[in-house]
Amino acid sequence: SNIDKATGFEKRFENVGTIVFENSTEASKAVAQEIADLIKVKQSQKQPCILGLATGSTPKGLYAELVRLHKEEGLSFKNVVSFNLDEYYPMEPDSINSYVRFMKELLFDHVDILPENINIPDGTLTKEAISDYCRQYEAKIEALGGIDLQILGIGGNGHIGFNESGSLKNSKTRLVALDHITRVAASGDFGGLQKTPRTAITLGVKKIMEAKRVILMAWGEGKSSIIKASVEGTVTNQVPASYLQEHNNATFVLDQAASSKLTRINTPWLVEKVTWTDKLIRKAVLGLALKLKKPILMLTDADYIENGMSDLLADSGPAYDINIKIFNKLQNTITGWPGGKPNADDSKRPERAEPAKKRV
Ligand code: PGA
Repeated sequence: SNIDKATGFEKRFENVGTIVFENSTEASKAVAQEIADLIKVKQSQKQPCILGLATGSTPKGLYAELVRLHKEEGLSFKNVVSFNLDEYYPMEPDSINSYVRFMKELLFDHVDILPENINIPDGTLTKEAISDYCRQYEAKIEALGGIDLQILGIGGNGHIGFNESGSLKNSKTRLVALDHITRVAASGDFGGLQKTPRTAITLGVKKIMEAKRVILMAWGEGKSSIIKASVEGTVTNQVPASYLQEHNNATFVLDQAASSKLTRINTPWLVEKVTWTDKLIRKAVLGLALKLKKPILMLTDADYIENGMSDLLADSGPAYDINIKIFNKLQNTITGWPGGKPNADDSKRPERAEPAKKRV
């Protein structure tokens, strides 16, 4: 599929397959295509296709594309058995915020999946009934041979499903308390933090890790820090998504903004040979000064060499020359006339003489 093809990039810093798309629409289409292909392979084998599904804002485009594939391209969901990751507890299925309702409105009501093949954790159980129910939820997945493809979003704290920071790698399906950060993120939907549930039922990390294929999607700059931690950081229960580094068939599917803190995007010269454009040189030299907490003019040849910028030094060095060039460029961005200065000699300064009167 598309998703596999685009992972040929040389990545020394990433510990899990990661692919970056132009935008979330393109990314969602590629994920939908992989799901459609899998459903069809299973159809041809007369097998059910076991999908693990997620809620939240992230998979909305994916579900829209799956609905389109059904309506316009005849993709059938008759052989699909779905297991949703989680549900708030307590939660009535017809409540505006229930994941039952979310899934019906965004996917299930618009495709031909059989109602008896839909599984979403039940938010209406008594507390005493939950642990038996969770055992049965897992047993049902096991009886079907496990999840073929698991879709995940990621929380700002690295949660997958509602497996918050601290969740163990072998954690089971269970009742969990929601992190403050998760509740804040959801509070808009619930009309305030006070009305936001404190607990939820979530598929455990273990069943997620047992899925034959895992695709984690993330969009937007707000996810860029946790994506870097999950993809490049050490595996830790503080960032449950980092467990996916230990899965043999997991891929992170990102838009550009979510990928922006990855080493290959933010400091590509540390990953592969780059063409040193003026813009990239300025970004790299500034970054070097900030990292070493040194003034630009104090950067040495050794600083460049030891921080992955030796080819730049070989091309345009010594450091002294590069430093002065960047220093002058930066100096020339400082002006007391950000809106432009009438009749100024603007050949060396950023004050623009024309047009003279501007509103900013
Ligand atoms: P989001 O939530 O898709 O709304 O960003 C993802 C998550 O919290 O897992």
